[in-house]
Amino acid sequence: MERVGVLFVCLGNICRSPMAEGLFQDRVQRDGVAGRFVVESAGTAAYHVGELADPRTREVLQRRGIDLRSRARRVADDDFERFDWILAMDGSNLSNLRRRCPAQHDHKLHRVLDPLGGGDVDDPYYGGSSGFDRNCDQLLEAFDHWLPRMLGP
Ligand code: 4NP
Repeated sequence: MERVGVLFVCLGNICRSPMAEGLFQDRVQRDGVAGRFVVESAGTAAYHVGELADPRTREVLQRRGIDLRSRARRVADDDFERFDWILAMDGSNLSNLRRRCPAQHDHKLHRVLDPLGGGDVDDPYYGGSSGFDRNCDQLLEAFDHWLPRMLGP
Protein backbone atom coordinates (compact mmCIF):
# COMPACT_ATOMS: atom_id res chain seq x y z
CA MET A 1 0.00 0.00 0.00
CA GLU A 2 1.21 3.50 -0.86
CA ARG A 3 2.14 5.49 2.23
CA VAL A 4 0.47 8.78 3.12
CA GLY A 5 2.93 11.69 3.08
CA VAL A 6 2.49 14.40 5.71
CA LEU A 7 4.69 17.50 5.77
CA PHE A 8 4.46 20.06 8.58
CA VAL A 9 5.66 23.56 7.73
CA CYS A 10 6.55 26.63 9.82
CA LEU A 11 8.97 29.52 9.36
CA GLY A 12 12.27 28.33 10.84
CA ASN A 13 11.63 24.56 11.12
CA ILE A 14 13.08 24.60 14.64
CA CYS A 15 10.06 25.21 16.90
CA ARG A 16 6.55 24.39 15.71
CA SER A 17 6.85 22.10 12.68
CA PRO A 18 9.45 19.72 14.18
CA MET A 19 7.20 19.64 17.27
CA ALA A 20 4.27 18.68 15.04
CA GLU A 21 6.42 16.06 13.28
CA GLY A 22 7.49 14.48 16.59
CA LEU A 23 4.00 14.52 18.10
CA PHE A 24 2.40 13.13 14.94
CA GLN A 25 4.99 10.37 14.58
CA ASP A 26 4.46 9.41 18.22
CA ARG A 27 0.70 9.43 17.80
CA VAL A 28 0.69 7.16 14.76
CA GLN A 29 3.11 4.81 16.50
CA ARG A 30 0.77 4.57 19.49
CA ASP A 31 -2.17 4.00 17.15
CA GLY A 32 -0.29 1.21 15.36
CA VAL A 33 -0.45 2.95 11.97
CA ALA A 34 3.08 4.42 11.71
CA GLY A 35 3.85 2.16 8.75
CA ARG A 36 1.18 3.90 6.71
CA PHE A 37 2.83 7.32 6.94
CA VAL A 38 5.89 9.25 5.85
CA VAL A 39 6.20 12.26 8.19
CA GLU A 40 8.61 15.18 7.79
CA SER A 41 8.81 18.89 8.53
CA ALA A 42 10.35 21.90 6.80
CA GLY A 43 10.59 25.69 7.05
CA THR A 44 9.79 28.45 4.59
CA ALA A 45 12.96 30.31 5.66
CA ALA A 46 16.56 29.12 5.62
CA TYR A 47 17.91 30.78 8.80
CA HIS A 48 18.29 27.57 10.78
CA VAL A 49 18.99 24.93 8.13
CA GLY A 50 20.91 21.95 9.56
CA GLU A 51 20.14 22.78 13.20
CA LEU A 52 18.46 20.53 15.72
CA ALA A 53 15.08 21.75 16.96
CA ASP A 54 15.02 24.55 19.54
CA PRO A 55 15.93 23.25 23.03
CA ARG A 56 12.48 24.32 24.29
CA THR A 57 10.77 22.19 21.63
CA ARG A 58 12.99 19.23 22.45
CA GLU A 59 12.29 19.65 26.14
CA VAL A 60 8.48 19.75 25.85
CA LEU A 61 8.61 16.66 23.66
CA GLN A 62 11.07 14.93 26.00
CA ARG A 63 8.56 15.46 28.81
CA ARG A 64 6.03 13.63 26.64
CA GLY A 65 8.50 10.78 26.10
CA ILE A 66 9.56 11.82 22.60
CA ASP A 67 13.20 12.08 21.53
CA LEU A 68 13.31 14.53 18.63
CA ARG A 69 16.35 14.38 16.37
CA SER A 70 15.18 16.01 13.17
CA ARG A 71 17.29 18.79 11.65
CA ALA A 72 15.94 21.91 10.03
CA ARG A 73 15.57 22.07 6.28
CA ARG A 74 13.88 24.42 3.90
CA VAL A 75 10.77 23.51 1.90
CA ALA A 76 11.95 22.02 -1.41
CA ASP A 77 10.19 22.25 -4.77
CA ASP A 78 9.59 18.50 -4.92
CA ASP A 79 7.85 18.52 -1.51
CA PHE A 80 4.65 19.59 -3.28
CA GLU A 81 4.84 16.42 -5.35
CA ARG A 82 6.09 14.04 -2.64
CA PHE A 83 3.59 14.83 0.12
CA ASP A 84 -0.19 14.37 0.21
CA TRP A 85 -0.90 16.69 3.13
CA ILE A 86 1.09 19.88 3.63
CA LEU A 87 0.05 21.46 6.92
CA ALA A 88 1.15 25.01 7.69
CA MET A 89 1.39 26.30 11.23
CA ASP A 90 0.10 29.81 10.47
CA GLY A 91 -1.43 32.00 7.80
CA SER A 92 1.87 33.50 6.81
CA ASN A 93 3.45 30.07 6.25
CA LEU A 94 0.39 29.11 4.21
CA SER A 95 0.62 32.17 1.93
CA ASN A 96 4.32 31.46 1.36
CA LEU A 97 3.49 27.90 0.39
CA ARG A 98 0.64 28.98 -1.89
CA ARG A 99 3.00 31.24 -3.83
CA ARG A 100 5.37 28.36 -4.52
CA CYS A 101 2.96 25.47 -4.95
CA PRO A 102 2.13 24.28 -8.49
CA ALA A 103 -1.63 24.60 -9.12
CA GLN A 104 -2.21 20.84 -9.39
CA HIS A 105 -1.00 20.35 -5.79
CA ASP A 106 -2.76 23.34 -4.24
CA HIS A 107 -5.45 21.12 -2.66
CA LYS A 108 -2.75 19.61 -0.40
CA LEU A 109 -2.17 22.88 1.48
CA HIS A 110 -4.01 23.56 4.75
CA ARG A 111 -3.55 25.30 8.05
CA VAL A 112 -2.98 22.66 10.67
CA LEU A 113 -5.64 24.15 13.00
CA ASP A 114 -8.35 24.31 10.31
CA PRO A 115 -10.26 21.37 11.86
CA LEU A 116 -10.49 23.35 15.12
CA GLY A 117 -12.05 26.32 13.33
CA GLY A 118 -8.84 27.84 11.99
CA GLY A 119 -6.35 30.15 13.64
CA ASP A 120 -2.60 29.98 13.97
CA VAL A 121 -0.21 27.90 16.00
CA ASP A 122 1.42 31.03 17.36
CA ASP A 123 5.13 31.47 16.85
CA PRO A 124 6.60 30.64 20.28
CA TYR A 125 10.18 31.66 19.43
CA TYR A 126 10.30 34.90 21.41
CA GLY A 127 8.05 33.74 24.26
CA GLY A 128 8.49 31.47 27.28
CA SER A 129 8.12 27.73 27.49
CA SER A 130 4.37 27.93 28.25
CA GLY A 131 3.87 28.87 24.58
CA PHE A 132 5.48 25.60 23.56
CA ASP A 133 3.18 23.57 25.80
CA ARG A 134 0.14 25.34 24.40
CA ASN A 135 1.37 24.62 20.86
CA CYS A 136 1.59 20.90 21.71
CA ASP A 137 -1.93 20.77 23.11
CA GLN A 138 -3.38 22.52 20.06
CA LEU A 139 -1.54 20.24 17.65
CA LEU A 140 -2.63 17.07 19.45
CA GLU A 141 -6.25 18.19 19.39
CA ALA A 142 -6.02 18.94 15.66
CA PHE A 143 -4.49 15.49 14.96
CA ASP A 144 -7.64 13.84 16.36
CA HIS A 145 -9.43 15.37 13.37
CA TRP A 146 -6.71 14.97 10.74
CA LEU A 147 -5.92 11.30 11.32
CA PRO A 148 -9.28 9.83 10.27
CA ARG A 149 -9.28 12.11 7.20
CA MET A 150 -5.80 11.00 6.21
CA LEU A 151 -6.45 7.32 6.78
CA GLY A 152 -9.70 7.41 4.82
CA PRO A 153 -12.57 4.93 5.01
P1 4NP B 1 9.34 28.25 13.99
O1 4NP B 1 9.84 29.42 14.96
O2 4NP B 1 8.89 28.91 12.71
O3 4NP B 1 8.20 27.66 14.74
O4 4NP B 1 10.50 27.30 13.80
C1 4NP B 1 10.79 30.36 14.60
C2 4NP B 1 12.12 30.02 14.64
C3 4NP B 1 13.07 30.96 14.31
C4 4NP B 1 12.69 32.22 13.95
C5 4NP B 1 11.37 32.57 13.90
C6 4NP B 1 10.40 31.62 14.23
N1 4NP B 1 13.68 33.20 13.64
O5 4NP B 1 13.30 34.36 13.38
O6 4NP B 1 14.88 32.88 13.62
